[in-house]
Amino acid sequence: MKRNTQTQLIHAPRKAPQYIETVQPPLFRASTIIFKHTDALFNRHWTDEYDYSYGTHGTPTTFTLGDSIAQIEGGQYALLAPSGLSAINLVNSCFLSHGDEVWVADNIYGPNMEHLRNLETRYGIQVKVYSPIDAATFIPSEKAKLIWLEAAGSVTLEFPDLTALVKKAQAHNILTALDNTWGAGLAFNAFDFGAEHLSVDMTVHALTKYPSGGGDILMGSVVTRDQKLHHQLFRMHAIQGISISGDDTAQIQRSLPSMQLRYEHQSKSALQLLDWLKLQPDFVQVLHPANADSAGHRYWKEICTEGHSAGLVSVIFKPEYTLQDIRNFCDALTLFKLGFSWGGPVSLVMLYNLKDMRVLEHTHLQQGLLVRFCIGLEHAQDLIQDIENALQQMKKQQLE
Ligand SMILES: Cc1ncc(COP(=O)(O)O)c(C=O)c1O
Repeated sequence: MKRNTQTQLIHAPRKAPQYIETVQPPLFRASTIIFKHTDALFNRHWTDEYDYSYGTHGTPTTFTLGDSIAQIEGGQYALLAPSGLSAINLVNSCFLSHGDEVWVADNIYGPNMEHLRNLETRYGIQVKVYSPIDAATFIPSEKAKLIWLEAAGSVTLEFPDLTALVKKAQAHNILTALDNTWGAGLAFNAFDFGAEHLSVDMTVHALTKYPSGGGDILMGSVVTRDQKLHHQLFRMHAIQGISISGDDTAQIQRSLPSMQLRYEHQSKSALQLLDWLKLQPDFVQVLHPANADSAGHRYWKEICTEGHSAGLVSVIFKPEYTLQDIRNFCDALTLFKLGFSWGGPVSLVMLYNLKDMRVLEHTHLQQGLLVRFCIGLEHAQDLIQDIENALQQMKKQQLE
């Protein structure tokens, strides 16, 4: 029977093949997923990832990327979220309840701290801050539920004593969540690290950075090795309606094969910059875990694969440089673009005033304004030249 054009427009005559092999996995976009029959509808179970039922539950596209990320990080189960911050929020909202205490490092990713402060005000969760350079400042009470770890920490890049922190958390039955964006599952294995083969309970990863590598897509993940924790997170993920685009997921999947090459290249370039930056008289401190003077250098050395140190390096300018000088410096850069984030092809720069950013005393950091460089895929020598030119330009402007 010939169907009407309107129906033909919807029901294509050719069915997509069940299976052909392609280099990249097929892309599934879905809100609705069609059940084969009512048995499939009634017998589905939300914990079974192969019981595809609705877009928010996940599709083969999202589960494929999730499994890859879990594998790279040394975990077993993964959930994807629309951004790294959204993955962080998933962990906070899943595990923290009224009256709980949560511990964060003073150099934790800023918006995580902001989210927790918001929960503190509205839901009576207590936020406690420990020093990233002194594990002894983590003094949990019996109400402590969760500790956030970050290695290396945001902006000032101190590498914490993960061994001491995780051991103490485990002794007090406190969940450990590591923001693994910097290490990306490549610098160290968060689920099996150090001489004692310790493991965190879960990692959060801003896939926006190295897995994407394009500077154009936002996504995050939460990885665990514990099925019970995964199911708790999976439930919260579903309740909150967290969902991500199949197209974005496929783009990140497509970038994964080159991720390690990019990470190693950017790490190498950052080390070249580090060597040069250390010689410049304009900076009182150069912050990078591979720098012997940087806080936590020995913990980085203990845990991380040699040379794996991501593409971030921060400098503290001499205190006599004013904010206007630093602004002139940033504006004079041509290859480094002014913008947030990292892990993409284009090098980025951002300026910070540490005075507004830290809760605890930070005597290990010198006075002065801080600039963070995020190394892209350009040639390191050109990046060095760009910084050198911008410093000269800044000094010229000082004389005007
Ligand atoms: C350490 C760290 N964690 C998490 C995030 C959040 O990732 P997203 O930008 O995908 O929300 C960022 C973003 O800059 C980050 O630097």
